[in-house]
Amino acid sequence: MTWDTSQYLKFADHRLRPAIDLLGRIAADAPGRVVDLGCGAGNVTALLTARWPDAGILGLDPSPEMLERARADHPTLAFEVADAASWKAEPSVDVLYSNAALHWLDDHATLFPRLFEQVAPGGWLAVQMPRNFTAPSHTSVAAAAADGPWKATLEPMLSDPPTHEPGFYVDLLSPMADLLDVWETEYIQILEGENPVAEWTKGTWLRPFLAALDGDARDGFEAAYRKRVRAAYPPMPDGRTAFPFRRLFLVARRKA
Ligand SMILES: C[S@@+](CC[C@H](N)C(=O)[O-])C[C@H]1O[C@@H](n2cnc3c(N)ncnc32)[C@H](O)[C@@H]1O
Repeated sequence: MTWDTSQYLKFADHRLRPAIDLLGRIAADAPGRVVDLGCGAGNVTALLTARWPDAGILGLDPSPEMLERARADHPTLAFEVADAASWKAEPSVDVLYSNAALHWLDDHATLFPRLFEQVAPGGWLAVQMPRNFTAPSHTSVAAAAADGPWKATLEPMLSDPPTHEPGFYVDLLSPMADLLDVWETEYIQILEGENPVAEWTKGTWLRPFLAALDGDARDGFEAAYRKRVRAAYPPMPDGRTAFPFRRLFLVARRKA
């Protein structure tokens, strides 16, 4: 999938907040090797560098557009192409950090233990993933997909929510962890602009569906999605829009 980095960064302040909350729960004082997996445009990699200025920090991402933006915005930081599904740390890392990326991969039952194995004994795995997939911002994608001549193209792309219940990850990680910190937060994001929830989703979850269509079909599907989302998240009297968004956080220390 291609990314429009400007669209994604439109809400950079709201998207950065969970990254900071996740970082705040990693009790590593002086890690040697830190990886930011699914680093995107690199703005979170910069936060990791500010937290641990003496560490070797590497941002990894499969998207050429994201890495181009990361290198342009953060020329002193190191970024490489990698796919989390196959990436192996050599040698193992002291902090494996991933903000808002691993929900793009499936088979978490295999992925999460494998990623935790890339962490050195005593090191940290820290992950944040959206868990907003049953909210209208996301269910409206399926509803709009079924409601037009684009149905045959889009319906096969629909899938179950990628992020599981918190207990699923607790069961997976606890055999390898001597410390587990798992929580959820629903951020009540107050957004500005016309139909900002649609603009938000257009930067992420809606993208592959739009990319699968052309011309009138693309415009028609986007209009159908925007109409549903605007009705589900009406503006407040002052014109701003409240967009509740649930996120899951996992911090695990690998047994020594
Ligand atoms: C919503 S962005 C988050 C970027 C960054 N972590 C942040 O917090 O701003 C999701 C990122 O996950 C990356 N991603 C998608 N599939 C991936 C995969 N298989 N392996 C690693 N990263 C992946 C995308 O390329 C994208 O940069």
